[in-house]
Amino acid sequence: MLNTAVKAARRAGNIINQASKNLDLLHVSKKSHSDFVSEVDGAAEDAIIKILLDAYPNHSILAEESGARGDLSQSEYQWIIDPLDGTTNFLHGFPQYAVSIALTHKGILNQAVIYNPTNNELFVASRGHGAYLNNHRLRVSKRTRLADCLLGTGFPFREFSHLDAYLAMFKDLIPRTVGIRRPGSAALDLAYVAAGRYDGFWEIGLSPWDIAAGCLLITEAGGLVGDLQGNDTQIQSGQIVAGNPKVFAQLLQVIAPHLTDELIEAQKPAAT
Ligand code: IPD
Ligand code: CA
Ligand code: CA
Repeated sequence: MLNTAVKAARRAGNIINQASKNLDLLHVSKKSHSDFVSEVDGAAEDAIIKILLDAYPNHSILAEESGARGDLSQSEYQWIIDPLDGTTNFLHGFPQYAVSIALTHKGILNQAVIYNPTNNELFVASRGHGAYLNNHRLRVSKRTRLADCLLGTGFPFREFSHLDAYLAMFKDLIPRTVGIRRPGSAALDLAYVAAGRYDGFWEIGLSPWDIAAGCLLITEAGGLVGDLQGNDTQIQSGQIVAGNPKVFAQLLQVIAPHLTDELIEAQKPAAT
């Protein structure tokens, strides 16, 4: 199954790379404030779904652009797909975007692929078999003190109801770390935690397709991932904290005083 997902991710990556040569010719539409989608997102998603369903016709799908298809009650398997994570970067020729494909089995993450077509970095993980970047085993970083850490994050950009709480976390973390980065692709951010490039990461307002694959990469690389309280709702709530085990715990401590009732409510399983 991982091989099929890799084939699909590379096919989508080819479509994205071709289109990146002629960005001016692209048709772009706006989904909501600061939320753009191009014909490339759709073409890449169609190509991925075709490869997956040709191989596994009974599997169900949850994809960013075309939504859910297939009956989850009939299939134990679901593919969760972001055909192009970092569309705004892509549209600006800023080379930080990726294809993200995850597979769940009975609701548990089982396979993960994140592919950056701009530099051919292929991150993969299979449950119980570790995480790899271009065939090299990945481990999360070993830093133990937040004061030595480089963090990744994502700013709220389309929905601003939690902006103040987010900025309070940001303000608290800036002086406690060596730096914070916001490259603009949550999938790659999580892959970078798995690769030890970041020591930790947090973001609010994400969707399952942004983070499903990245979550498995991180746990298979020895890291921890959860919601803003460290619980396991991140895929549903879209609120995520990740890091090596020591940094994960310290991040949760710094974030805790800034949690609002609304953020906590969004992390309750009933809110999904
Ligand atoms: C976005 C990117 C970005 C994150 C956003 C996502 P998209 O995905 O992952 O880093 O901050 O929340 O929506 O829309 O480019 O697929
Ligand atoms: Ca995305
Ligand atoms: Ca996307």
